[in-house]
Amino acid sequence: MTSNRPALPPEIARRRTFAIISHPDAGKTTLTEKFLLFGGAIQMAGQVRAKGEARRTRSDFMKMEQDRGISVSASAMSFEYNDFRFNLVDTPGHSDFSEDTYRTLTAVDAAIMVIDGAKGVESQTRKLFEVCRLRDLPILTFCNKMDRESRDTFEIIDEIQENLAIDVAPASWPIGVGRDFIGAYDLLNDRLEIMDRADRNKVAETVKISGIDDPKLADHIPAEQLRKLREEIEMARELLPKFDRKSFLEGHMTPIWFGSAINSFGVRELMDGIGNYGPEPQPQNSADREIAPEEKAVTGFVFKVQANMDPKHRDRVAFVRLASGHFERGMKLLHVRSKKPMAISNPVLFLAADRELADEAWAGDIIGIPNHGQLRIGDALTEGEALKFTGIPSFAPELLQSVRATDPMKAKHLEKALMQFAEEGAAKVFKPAIGSGFIVGVVGALQFEVLASRIELEYGIPVRFEASQFTSARWLSGPKEKVEAFANLNKQHMATDHDGDLVYLTRLQWDIDRVTRDQPELKLTATKEMM
Ligand code: G4P
Repeated sequence: MTSNRPALPPEIARRRTFAIISHPDAGKTTLTEKFLLFGGAIQMAGQVRAKGEARRTRSDFMKMEQDRGISVSASAMSFEYNDFRFNLVDTPGHSDFSEDTYRTLTAVDAAIMVIDGAKGVESQTRKLFEVCRLRDLPILTFCNKMDRESRDTFEIIDEIQENLAIDVAPASWPIGVGRDFIGAYDLLNDRLEIMDRADRNKVAETVKISGIDDPKLADHIPAEQLRKLREEIEMARELLPKFDRKSFLEGHMTPIWFGSAINSFGVRELMDGIGNYGPEPQPQNSADREIAPEEKAVTGFVFKVQANMDPKHRDRVAFVRLASGHFERGMKLLHVRSKKPMAISNPVLFLAADRELADEAWAGDIIGIPNHGQLRIGDALTEGEALKFTGIPSFAPELLQSVRATDPMKAKHLEKALMQFAEEGAAKVFKPAIGSGFIVGVVGALQFEVLASRIELEYGIPVRFEASQFTSARWLSGPKEKVEAFANLNKQHMATDHDGDLVYLTRLQWDIDRVTRDQPELKLTATKEMM
């Protein structure tokens, strides 16, 4: 993260664009719901729940995909909180969709990591954390479910420090656990927060005190717990790092809050944390230069495309992160890839459950642009400059299968459907140089099932996925003649992706190693920038 930057215009400076990462069941949905509740975006808790539950099982997941209205409006949510405008970008819940998750994280400036106080750092948390680390994203940690039996506070902090190799600074300190949990001591503001167990949607009572030695504490905390709290805080202050905003913004330190999302406890402190300490919209990288958010001209990039929200109309929504400028509805922007102007007449902002027309948006915001397939992941929109944003990769799929329509008459339609999914980023589609048919590549096996169901549902084409003779795909590049000669000699291994780029398919890592060794001028890569 860049520091020492000039002050941003106030409208941009008040924006906070972030995602929540967690292992399933840690409480992401519950926390999101409380954010929306305190942000005034929903009237009562329970409205986001349907989605959280839908995630749990595969069949429910399919059902959710059918009901794409829900998942789209929840993909990015904007709401006001105090003086801030929060843009919360949803990360897909299932581990099979890690590529989508990665791209989502290119659109945010910070992440909240939710962990379950009884379980600590779990596998999915660790994976997502690593992705954040690749981008040096600042991370705020929320240790949830303190109203249940949890681990010892020092143990939780140690585990995060050791497992994730990041400094952890306590922003609050829990008082008691499980049934004895009564609240937390706010270490950043020297305040006492008491949890209200009777009303789950009520914000905790704040007690003003003058530090941990204030005798007033005894009015709220039983003597034995108070003695323990004083002892622990003394130890924490001695042994643990103090919160340092610079180190946090650089991604080296995470502040941790202890709370209970379901009881609304600790949520406001966390929100204040994002607002007060979280990063402002950050500069974005492009091939030629860094784009600063305060630049006058509007620029943005597509990080996600969601197709067929209404199966009757082939409409799609492209999610665009604005990198700079002040966007106004009706603006004409240059679609850099096609070099054509696009009038953005009906952009949408995502306000919790509703989609709303956006009249204006600023750097840092996420807007949705309905379109008929022109906009693809990685595309740039500008006021004229031929920008090429970088850092939105496409990963080589880890699983390959061939696909065909059960009705051979529908082969042509299948090609169209597959290309649309490829453009949406839902799968890689390769057209082999020899023979007919397609090879589809995904990162997780569940995606094959989701694809099959979507192709049937959205295009009316029943399909069968079958084992492919290949297991790996690599993009091929290098000097033109060398590439052509190689492709001609290895026709049975060659295919093209939906952009027409050459791909080498094989079932042996040995093949890949051999090519790399014998023909150093050729490059076989497992990622490609989506431009
Ligand atoms: P996820 O999106 O990360 O998968 O988690 P989600 O919010 O759906 O929460 C998972 C479960 O944990 C839910 O229980 C939820 O109510 C519960 N939970 C969330 N925050 C807290 C908390 O602070 N304390 C306690 N004790 N539980 C919490 P569930 O039984 O699976 O669903 P439900 O029947 O409660 O809806």
